[in-house]
Amino acid sequence: MKIKNICCLGAGYVGGPTMSVIALKCPEIKVTVVDLNEKRIAAWNEEDLDKLPVYEPGLAEVVKEARGRNLFFSTDVDSAIEAADMIFIAVNTPTKNYGEGKGMAADLKFVELCARQIARIAKNDKIIVEKSTLPVRTAETLQTILDHTGNGVKFEVLSNPEFLAEGTAIEDLLNADRVLIGGNQTESGKKAIQALVDVYAHWLSPKQILTTNVWSSELSKLTANAFLAQRISSINALSALCEVTEADVDEVATAIGTDSRIGPKFLKASVGFGGSCFQKDILNLVYLCRYFNLPEVANYWEQITILNDYQKYRFARKIITSLFNTVSDKKIAFLGWAFKKDTNDTRESAAIYVAEHLIEDGAEIHVYDPKVSEEKVKADMSYLWELKGVAEQKIQAKLKQIFVYKSPEEALNQAHAVAVLTEWDEFKTYDWNEIYINMYKPAFVFDGRNILDAEKLKAIGFQIKGIGKG
Ligand code: NAD
Ligand code: UDX
Repeated sequence: MKIKNICCLGAGYVGGPTMSVIALKCPEIKVTVVDLNEKRIAAWNEEDLDKLPVYEPGLAEVVKEARGRNLFFSTDVDSAIEAADMIFIAVNTPTKNYGEGKGMAADLKFVELCARQIARIAKNDKIIVEKSTLPVRTAETLQTILDHTGNGVKFEVLSNPEFLAEGTAIEDLLNADRVLIGGNQTESGKKAIQALVDVYAHWLSPKQILTTNVWSSELSKLTANAFLAQRISSINALSALCEVTEADVDEVATAIGTDSRIGPKFLKASVGFGGSCFQKDILNLVYLCRYFNLPEVANYWEQITILNDYQKYRFARKIITSLFNTVSDKKIAFLGWAFKKDTNDTRESAAIYVAEHLIEDGAEIHVYDPKVSEEKVKADMSYLWELKGVAEQKIQAKLKQIFVYKSPEEALNQAHAVAVLTEWDEFKTYDWNEIYINMYKPAFVFDGRNILDAEKLKAIGFQIKGIGKG
């Protein structure tokens, strides 16, 4: 079966970039990305490519080439479903914030709505592709909904989890380590798998395309994220030990990373991992293990997120204790708000939690991030406080402790301390002599990413504290 028309439900950080690359590499396939969010679709259709809703290096160039040719962004979900022979579901699957499984389980209501809508609209057989990250056995749920609420047409459900990382999405998609496709091991299931393999084969070699049964594919996504996050929590746990023993965590990481069995990647100690995936997917894994009555397994994986929360809290506490045990009315400049460099995404960013602790102690937080707006920073904080049940009036009062600037100079001027929360390259290039002159003394730098030249800063006069540095 040759795919001619693809539709993707969800034009977010995954749907937008993945479909743009498929359209780029498969010019004979019409790709329509749809979303319920009109503002987001309007932004994807923006003439000015700087205004695309997702910032990713290389994305604008891909969109420029494919958009209007065979790549389309639309809010007309029904028409796109009807016309497609293959439908990707790339909608959000956040942690449930209500009822059964609150704070742990994945909220699948958006995915379920997609399945019901597809079933209602489809008038011919279709392949449904799970692109969202889902708990193992979700394909069974989707198949049940599709088969029981449809118009008698046939659906084949595939799992095709996405492994891209934000900030390198286009590179990851063009040169994927692997794509994973899981499907039913029946004749029609195998045909569906082959149809999707043929799409990726436009630019990836056969050895980069793995096929498995549907459950292995679903579980591999949660497992990959758990393993990656585990490495970060492991090195972050050791960073605390380094700080009291005068070992240097970066030296330890290099020393162990040269063992080919361990490998050098994902061993960068930090203020804690953020992003929309790691925390959510690990909690989801923990929930699944408890659901299947495997408490020891659940507790093992849960420790990754417990350690990550500890790391963020430890960083905030270090700022407070170093500033003579109070940050009340002190100006703390935040360099970076995004959860990592080269993205405008701030979901679960460590900056949010560090800011919360410091604001609790009375600090003023002065933020500069090259890609994050004031509106976003304040929305992140409001959302956190709302989740914690803080009263609206109190939220408004706390928001007055946050200031967001369009230039680093404004954020840094007359600060008591600088905290580096995101590893943006430009922070390394600043004139730190000038920054020192304009700060209160003693001038503190808390480098939550170990990106600054500590010796140079010390020579200028800064009190510098990194992660895992004695
Ligand atoms: P996102 O929130 O950026 O985008 C999801 C979009 O889906 C939103 O724009 C929303 O309006 C839309 N949507 C919701 N319900 C819809 C419906 N019924 N019809 C049409 N559109 C609908 O989320 P994201 O970051 O793109 O993540 C999507 C999925 O991919 C999640 O399951 C996530 O875990 C997974 N994932 C994310 C990443 C990442 O780096 N962000 C990487 C791999 C996997
Ligand atoms: C992650 C996975 O890498 C990706 O495969 C999956 O599809 C989605 O989730 P993402 O969250 O976009 O991608 O970025 P990633 O590069 O994994 O970084 C996640 C967080 O970990 C960031 O806050 C980053 O700063 C932090 N990190 C990463 C570290 O603190 N140390 C490291 O060594 C690596």
